[in-house]
Amino acid sequence: MVFTPGKVILCGEHAVVYGKQALVASIGLGVRARVVKISNNFGDSKNLVKNAIKIAGGDENISVEIESELPVGSGLGSSAAVAAATIKVVREYLGKSIEKDELFKLTMECEKIAHGNASGVDPAAVVYRGLISYVKGQGIERLEVKGPIKLLLVDSGKPTESTKEMVELVAKNPEREEIVEEIGGLVGKVRRELESGGRISELLDQNGKLLESLGVVGKGARKLSDELRSLGVSVKITGAGGIRAGSGMMIVMGGDLAKMKRLLKNKHINYFETEIGGQ
Ligand code: PMV
Repeated sequence: MVFTPGKVILCGEHAVVYGKQALVASIGLGVRARVVKISNNFGDSKNLVKNAIKIAGGDENISVEIESELPVGSGLGSSAAVAAATIKVVREYLGKSIEKDELFKLTMECEKIAHGNASGVDPAAVVYRGLISYVKGQGIERLEVKGPIKLLLVDSGKPTESTKEMVELVAKNPEREEIVEEIGGLVGKVRRELESGGRISELLDQNGKLLESLGVVGKGARKLSDELRSLGVSVKITGAGGIRAGSGMMIVMGGDLAKMKRLLKNKHINYFETEIGGQ
């Protein structure tokens, strides 16, 4: 049995595709994979698992069963976690160990098949774990943070678009370059605050608003964000987003989180509590 965590992008999604730094952390929820004789639990991940088995050096005689706590396609790194867990469990089954750098490379191959021009931020987060800074093509840097930071991950609804479609949509935004620059600047500030034990919630909120300008946050998620902001918390979507239906998970932090939880319960909106920097 192999466990691989999901991830949350704290800041820098989309800008990371254009070479900016993203800050990303693994979370407590994840996926479990085991090699079985007859697989009956592929769920949404059937092709992803098949590709990952092949990429790990396995053949059609190997089946892998996946149990997942991660909502699919909602920004918590489900596909990267499924791919990494599958590759690792197949390698263990074949009696071959796999180091993190190779696991990252092979998970990245799976992500490319699923997502096209993927930056690699998701595989980096789920393979290296903890809180990291990731720059496309340059690998990771581990960040030391003073004490764990609590956040709520609020479900704005499952996007109907894939990450690939959202990345393509951003590519067409005529204001993309300026917004990407602004996001890059903000991420640098968040990193400095994290490393010096300062506050990051207002900066994340600004990143959230820039993602709205980038055009990756739908009407429903924008309405919910405004409502939550009016109660004094910071809000940003995490991951690729979506505009036709939901926009995936949103990070909510700062303010009175207990009050937020009551409000979300009353509205029947799903949320998860997580901590970053403490793993
Ligand atoms: O797949 P998601 O929703 O976790 O988003 C990945 C982050 C993007 O920056 C939108 C795409 C990428 O490859 O970096």
